Amino acid sequence: MLKRIIYIAAILWSTGTLMAQDVLLNTMHRNTVSLNGAWKYIVDPYETGYANFHGEIYDQKNSGATAAYYNNYKAKNKTELVEYDFDQSPSMQIPGDWNTQKENLLYYEGIIWLKKNFDYLLPKNKKLFLYFAAVNYKAEVYLNGQKLGMHEGGFTPFQFDITAVVRKKNNYLVVKADNKRNKEGLPALNTDWWNYGGITREVLLIQEPEIYIQKYAIQLNRNNSKNITATVQLKNTYNPEWVNLTIPELHISEKAQTINGVANFNFNAPDDIKYWSPQQPKRYEVQVKTQFQTLEDQIGFRTITTNGTNLLLNGKSIYLRGISIHEDINGHRVTNQQEALQLLQIAKDLGCNYIRLAHYPHSEQMVLSAEALGLLIWEEIPVYWSVDFQHKHTYDLAAAQMTAVVERDKNRAAVIIWSVANETPLVENRNNFLKQLIQLTHNLDDTRLISAALLTRMENGIGRIDDSIGNYLDVIAFNEYQGWYGGDLAKTPGIIWQSLFNKPILVSEFGGDAKFGLHGEKMERWTEEYQDYLYRQNLQMIENITGCSGISPWILMDFRSPRRVLPKIQDGFNRKGLVSEKGEKKKAFFTLQQFYQKIKDTKK
Ligand code: GCU
Repeated sequence: MLKRIIYIAAILWSTGTLMAQDVLLNTMHRNTVSLNGAWKYIVDPYETGYANFHGEIYDQKNSGATAAYYNNYKAKNKTELVEYDFDQSPSMQIPGDWNTQKENLLYYEGIIWLKKNFDYLLPKNKKLFLYFAAVNYKAEVYLNGQKLGMHEGGFTPFQFDITAVVRKKNNYLVVKADNKRNKEGLPALNTDWWNYGGITREVLLIQEPEIYIQKYAIQLNRNNSKNITATVQLKNTYNPEWVNLTIPELHISEKAQTINGVANFNFNAPDDIKYWSPQQPKRYEVQVKTQFQTLEDQIGFRTITTNGTNLLLNGKSIYLRGISIHEDINGHRVTNQQEALQLLQIAKDLGCNYIRLAHYPHSEQMVLSAEALGLLIWEEIPVYWSVDFQHKHTYDLAAAQMTAVVERDKNRAAVIIWSVANETPLVENRNNFLKQLIQLTHNLDDTRLISAALLTRMENGIGRIDDSIGNYLDVIAFNEYQGWYGGDLAKTPGIIWQSLFNKPILVSEFGGDAKFGLHGEKMERWTEEYQDYLYRQNLQMIENITGCSGISPWILMDFRSPRRVLPKIQDGFNRKGLVSEKGEKKKAFFTLQQFYQKIKDTKK
């Protein structure tokens, strides 16, 4: 009972700024129960289940109110007034965006309450966490009528300790999900992708020992490819604890004691270590062990560095044969590993060794699957177009999202680039915002490169790559749309690009729309022939860009966007995909595939 009082007191104390806590790393290898499946839902555009008619919020003013949906209240008799009933309400599949599960929710931006019942017998001296891989965009979470906390940000994991709240039978978990866009959000009000709302990734119950492994990072030293450093963080330690770190195939077995919960390791790898690469995506079984638990992982080792305009993977120059990917397949949010693999297999068919996961952190399954397939990865947080650079909350969101994705994917050798922005305008405070974010990212992870997809300008027929934020980036990426948003396709191959920076260049986007199956002359916009001609012309131009170390054309698959409304052509889809939303390959797919085959043969 005392524990419960302390817990509730902690929640009440932090009510004002309830934010989720540090998340558990590597959920795949932990003791979990999935809460995926059918959840009951109530659409609530007026926050009827959250506040009374004067807008007084129930969980702040009257948390036991029967009208509060999170109380899952049932009328006690035939007279009592209760105007909702989860059990009589419809269900939807979780994980899954709500927009594409119910026709009347396709454009819905607002609040939907989702409820799941579960039983759980928690053994003594064990802890139980409730883990969400992602909820878009804001989540307020209640268990058995008690507020656990809230989380803002649609693409990164969060969790709550429910040890003191969970009971053996009939737990009712209620999530208030809200996908309304807002000016100081991240992303902000304007995006060129669908605002898929809801619990879009998995929900897990994770059982841990009292003293548990929270996270770890095991990485090759960026400047010494024979040296491995590792940190392991335990929680609830009161005394030093021994931690064993073993990599059996490398005959490595190290032990260290924690100081304030952290154990640090530094050891050398044997000469015969196999580095991770697209050709050889080698990962090693790694074990992190304490007297209370053992966690296993599969970790690859590689270095990614630059030397002037060269991008070096394991010390060798590499050209990134890439493609940009949204987390959107057949017009809905990717919800599982099988759909992630479908997208990645198309990228492999294209001849890619690299993918740009735009414009927000994709699921962990996408990153793990790409790593297994030998695809290098650019990961990004949605500092997209115009965000509120003046607003502290917006920066805090960017910092939280970058921290969350770096913490989640730090052990993924395939991830080589963290991107801090996409096509942000040169407005006041933008550079300060990005410089701060770049510094934070370097502090979080000094083994990877930092970039951003920048805008450029044409001056007397010359492409100028001179955005001053480039001085703070390791890799200079830029989006260009010659032949789609302006420019003369006939003259495109002759365009010269000049960069201010002696750093590797990536063309992070180029492309044009084509409706699959629509054919015509090469200058007839929206046809496959036009898109193909646009690719041919841009690829010729790109081959002549000095210092270009790779490309990620826009985009692998047609995806939903509310901005794209041309009837019979777009119909709510951005058609710059090389394949339709159904995976049908357009002419330009084969042009890029041939280009990559040629590149692969010439740029060893
Ligand atoms: C922009 C932006 C993409 C967008 C694309 C387009 O460069 O980065 O998110 O979808 O152009 O206009 O299709």
